[in-house]
Amino acid sequence: MTAPNTQPRKRIAVGITGSSGSIYAMDFLKRCPHDKFVVMSKWGKAVMKDELKLDDPSAAVAPYCKKLFADSDLTAPLASGTNDIDAFVIIPASTSTIGKIASGIGDTLITRTAAVCLKERRKIILCVRETPLSTITLRQCADLSSEGVVVMPISPPLYFVPTTVEEYVQGFVNRVLHHVGVNVGSGWRSEELE
Ligand SMILES: Cc1cc2nc3c(=O)[nH]c(=O)nc-3n(C[C@H](O)[C@H](O)[C@H](O)COP(=O)(O)O)c2cc1C
Repeated sequence: MTAPNTQPRKRIAVGITGSSGSIYAMDFLKRCPHDKFVVMSKWGKAVMKDELKLDDPSAAVAPYCKKLFADSDLTAPLASGTNDIDAFVIIPASTSTIGKIASGIGDTLITRTAAVCLKERRKIILCVRETPLSTITLRQCADLSSEGVVVMPISPPLYFVPTTVEEYVQGFVNRVLHHVGVNVGSGWRSEELE
């Protein structure tokens, strides 16, 4: 459960790409209370269809977003630095999309939004999912990290001892929510800080 969030609403762009792990995207969309502007890549939709057994991934995410944009639509407002957003979360982030972002390619709305965030010095969170990682991807992640990008490999913590897949997924998504300013409740042994 996510604790009540009393902070002002933010604008969060969310990219969903063709890595395994659509369940993390769905959990993030459901529990992030901010205004979410969502873009799904062609392969993001295909993987979500498969992993979550959905007929229509766009229809499934629509209730949890303020607006859904097509990845092919470079005229969408996210493609321009003149529109402020508070953060861009790519969950899950494929290594292909990471490679494009690290190379400065902005030929889809997801990669263009990332290019805009880089030039405008806005927050990007990349939830990469692949294993093992090639040296190329590791170098690209290091380059992006040095530009201020938060690289968060999908790697759920087990110290809260999840007993269901839902809890296991939430353990990782809580970390992402924390990075976009959502109150996700107590941290590890947080009572010892009182
Ligand atoms: C079922 C399935 C699972 C995949 N899982 C991953 C993955 O975990 N990580 C990854 O980097 N690519 C994965 N891929 C490959 C990407 O989908 C592929 O590189 C695609 O071009 C990514 O495009 P996008 O970044 O525009 O979504 C997967 C593909 C399929 C069909």
